[in-house]
Amino acid sequence: MSSIKHYLQFKDLTADEYAYLLGRAAHIKKKFKAFEKYQPFADPDRTLAMIFEKASTRTRVSFEAGMYQMGGSVVHLTTGDSQLGRAEPIEDSARVISRMVDIVMIRTFEQQKIESFAAHSRVPVINGLTNEYHPCQILADIFTYNEYRGDIRGKVVAWVGDGNNMANTWLQAAEVLGFTVHVSTPSGYGIDTAVAGVKNTACYKTFKDPREACRGADLVTTDVWTSMGFEAENEARRKAFAQWCVDEDMMRLAKPDALFMHCLPAHRGEEVSAEVIDGPQSVVWDEAENRMHVQKALMEYLLLGHLT
Ligand code: CP
Ligand code: NVA
Repeated sequence: MSSIKHYLQFKDLTADEYAYLLGRAAHIKKKFKAFEKYQPFADPDRTLAMIFEKASTRTRVSFEAGMYQMGGSVVHLTTGDSQLGRAEPIEDSARVISRMVDIVMIRTFEQQKIESFAAHSRVPVINGLTNEYHPCQILADIFTYNEYRGDIRGKVVAWVGDGNNMANTWLQAAEVLGFTVHVSTPSGYGIDTAVAGVKNTACYKTFKDPREACRGADLVTTDVWTSMGFEAENEARRKAFAQWCVDEDMMRLAKPDALFMHCLPAHRGEEVSAEVIDGPQSVVWDEAENRMHVQKALMEYLLLGHLT
């Protein structure tokens, strides 16, 4: 079972594998835009099981539409409508589900749950978001950066906001792909670098003032103040994060051609102003669409390997 390739964290793939994947994603996107059929999962038919223990719009639509476009099939499970919600052990669920499908995508709470699932799965498992990481999103973000500005190596990404799953994954991406993240979080909401799982301290720099984190950045990015699963902290977070709203003043401190990204869903007037997310530097809609293209490339790679 150990030879199966999973995608549970961004650092599960190397820089060379990312170079290949990003190239494939561009190739697959081009076919999609040209209305050209590309169905490597049609014969034999491949099935994706998607397990959602948290809400989703983009992850569900991008995986489901992507799999159908590639000629495969999809099974959709949630906690509420499966035995997962009635305490069937995750290991047993993995043993059963992975005998019937070819690949599994999971969105859940603790990373440990997806790690346990993967350890007992006969097929590749993809992380569709956990409390700790969101690798598919950062893969789409890097692809989007490449489309607009080319290679991200050596660039500066400003992270303004919560030290959450997105922030952890940006740090891993910086370590794997060779760029720097300028992190500014309110006190008490910083990144735990042990959880982020980065060894190279040169890949990130922390700033008390979010404006200083944005100064000279090539890309400014943020996320909701309260992630799924942390709703009980909503009020405390609203107060703590009040100064961590990416607005036009912050964007003016970044490079003149800096991009703005947000994984979405967004709360205008909280972590980002309407002027910024709906403004000329924002690439959030491309980011969302690119989830589908990069995930098609990812599923192709995990199921069919490196194609020539
Ligand atoms: N960005 C993202 O993962 O969106 P959803 O929660 O809608 O899937
Ligand atoms: N950090 C957010 C991302 C949502 C896509 C969350 O975990 O809810």
